[in-house]
Amino acid sequence: MTARTYLAIESSCDETAAAIVRGREVLAEAVATQAELHERFGGVVPEIASRRHLELVDIVVRDVLECSGLERVENVDAVAVTRGPGLVGALLVGIAAAKARAWAAGVPLVPVDHLLGHVASALLDPDANLEPPFLCVLVSGGHTLLLDVDVDMTLTLLGSTRDDAAGEAFDKGARLLGLDMPGGPALSALAATADRRDAVEFTPAMLHHDTLDTSFSGIKTALSIALRERAAIRANEPTDAQLAAGFEDAIVSTIVGSVKKLLRQRGPTSGHASARDRMAVVGGVAANATLRTRMAGICREFGVQTVHAPLRWCGDNAAMIGVAAQFCPEHAGPDAWQLDAYATTPLFRQGKLVPN
Ligand SMILES: Nc1ncnc2c1ncn2[C@@H]1O[C@H](COP(=O)(O)OP(=O)(O)O)[C@@H](O)[C@H]1O
Ligand SMILES: [Mg+2]
Repeated sequence: MTARTYLAIESSCDETAAAIVRGREVLAEAVATQAELHERFGGVVPEIASRRHLELVDIVVRDVLECSGLERVENVDAVAVTRGPGLVGALLVGIAAAKARAWAAGVPLVPVDHLLGHVASALLDPDANLEPPFLCVLVSGGHTLLLDVDVDMTLTLLGSTRDDAAGEAFDKGARLLGLDMPGGPALSALAATADRRDAVEFTPAMLHHDTLDTSFSGIKTALSIALRERAAIRANEPTDAQLAAGFEDAIVSTIVGSVKKLLRQRGPTSGHASARDRMAVVGGVAANATLRTRMAGICREFGVQTVHAPLRWCGDNAAMIGVAAQFCPEHAGPDAWQLDAYATTPLFRQGKLVPN
């Protein structure tokens, strides 16, 4: 059976993105980021984001139709769109654009959960040929989740952060150090300039808890205390780079610590009924080089294959929505036009996310 071709649209936060996806192949994609627009506010301003999505969504859709050579929506099999979680105003812009195009072209509409999109981004690794089932760690600006991914891509929630998400902690740490947004890449770059042996030691969180949950707000507080103490004694040491290196290490150790517990419980030697031998690492923070190295190391210890989302598909994009759409039901007629956005994923309410 030939793979279906999707026009995919993503507008859950501050990226306006579109892509044409067939099977695991991305025929064209466009991502317009708004990072600069929100920088002076120190974070994403929902109303500004929605208005900018309105200006950009037609442009990115037209761009991918032209670049893919398909030219018209009638030449795709369905239109896929992120339904949530995210900023509702921003989501509604993408959903309205997707509905209008699907209706005008007479093709079905496929609503996709943003988190399922991130999970599916690991399927885009051309070398890994990853197929469900597998385990997954999803680390982004809004979420830090440990998941089981079943054969039909049903997600089961195994662990989550109790406060900040890992990306949020990176962004807040970067702000404390006076770095540009998005904070994660800037902080990681600064950390890389330090000699790791001189990194300030911050205590990773939750390592000795028997749950798979994580927490990051304590690490952030420790950084702000260290900065205040340095200022109080007007010292030059520790340097910003040494603080950034220690901060990054603590966040990464907290994530890897929870993964180690997960692999003890559900790894190939655990005897668990749904034991898995592959681990996907996805989300914006999955672009972090230190995390990628440490994740590969801990998984190797347990005989588990690690599959990272390719760097270009770690952060928010529409290609991941197009891949995830293949696992989701298609809607047509009134059923499609009544589709609404949601701010919070059903995964938290139900502990599971069955592809729509
Ligand atoms: N190299 C990196 N190291 C650490 N964090 C990173 C890196 N690259 C991106 N991030 C973080 O990833 C987050 C963005 O992830 P993304 O999935 O796009 O966000 P969300 O879906 O939550 O809007 C931001 O918090 C950003 O700082
Ligand atoms: Mg995201």
